Amino acid sequence: MTQPSVLVTGASGYIGSHTCVCLLQNGWHVIGIDNFSNSSPNVIRRIEQIAQRSMSFHLADIRDSSAISELCRQQNITAVIHFAGLKSVSESVSKPLDYFDNNVCGSVTLLRVLQQEGVRQLVFSSSATVYGEPNTVPVTEDAPTSATNPYGRSKLIVEQMLSDLIQADPTWRIATLRYFNPVGAHESGLIGEDPRDIPNNLMPFIAQVAVGRRHELRVFGDDYPTIDGSGVRDYIHVMDLARGHLAALHRLSTHAGSFTVNLGTGRGISVLQAVAAFEQASGHTIPTRRVARRSGDIATCYASPARAAALLGWQAEYDLDKMCTDHWRWQRNNPDGY
Ligand code: NAD
Ligand code: UFG
Repeated sequence: MTQPSVLVTGASGYIGSHTCVCLLQNGWHVIGIDNFSNSSPNVIRRIEQIAQRSMSFHLADIRDSSAISELCRQQNITAVIHFAGLKSVSESVSKPLDYFDNNVCGSVTLLRVLQQEGVRQLVFSSSATVYGEPNTVPVTEDAPTSATNPYGRSKLIVEQMLSDLIQADPTWRIATLRYFNPVGAHESGLIGEDPRDIPNNLMPFIAQVAVGRRHELRVFGDDYPTIDGSGVRDYIHVMDLARGHLAALHRLSTHAGSFTVNLGTGRGISVLQAVAAFEQASGHTIPTRRVARRSGDIATCYASPARAAALLGWQAEYDLDKMCTDHWRWQRNNPDGY
């Protein structure tokens, strides 16, 4: 019998790569797959360099059922962490079918194979986007859900599909993790977020301004009902998020049943506060320009992390300064990414 293993889909992506480091450092045998649609093959070597251990990696698409079946048969896979998917809100509006094909059909294919091969433990990457515009903050897991774009709808559909699957077959153990706003990088500066095009998200955009790739940050909105009129979010260090996956895997291996938890810090940070913290961490001034609100944006969103603390014994440890310092080290050392 081979060693028990975890299959990680989207292993070379931003959150996947940081989670692989944590898994390897905690003794897991890691089988990673990715189709490199939004990541670089160089990532795998860097994961291994940080962890000082090797992982098994396969170039594969989650929609390729025979490739996944084959892996399940060759390796003694006990659990799956499912990161693979497309994640740009704006792209999902122009290419909805790509998002449903990849995120929804891809998840169906993966789940069918796991069902056939007898793998019953799954950690799924969901998002705070499923809360739509929250009525109250901090947001708890039982808040109403809704979707305002195809990306969000794809996450909500998979969440609902998982809930139906658990009803049909209670031997499944599924952790649905709703991430808030992941930022930062591993403190080695070897891995981090590497957007292919113009970044949509705040922290990678700020970092590219600081390193001289872009001349200014446009701050979307100056009249939100927040501390300074800019949007407020719950930024969470990607290594805290990665640890959350280990805690979820541990819970699945020790308890029957399924659960949904927020992974956030519980603290709201405005765009201007994030800019000031990044300036401090990097020693660079970030020129900003206040512009109109971005369509579809909400004023304020931050998590209640209470359920994650109670169920998983997990809480975020790193503050905004650490997020900016680590994000900056990655950007400074890799100005053009991988
Ligand atoms: P990412 O794009 O960096 O990583 C996703 C990885 O999946 C990429 O390496 C990509 O090449 C791969 N991939 C995509 N489609 C695939 C397919 N069909 N088969 C195999 N590999 C495929 O994104 P990330 O930030 O690491 O996000 C990981 C997951 O977390 C995604 O499901 C995303 O929707 C979710 N999420 C991300 C955020 C965020 O802000 N980063 C927030 C909430 C939820
Ligand atoms: N912002 C700017 N300028 C920019 C980019 C962002 O001012 O150039 C502002 C936004 O208006 C918002 C805040 O920075 O107030 C954060 O924006 P992000 O795009 O970084 O993050 P969002 O909260 O809008 O969305 C992200 C992901 C979604 C995910 C959500 C919750 O893009 O996919 O977090 O996890 F659903």
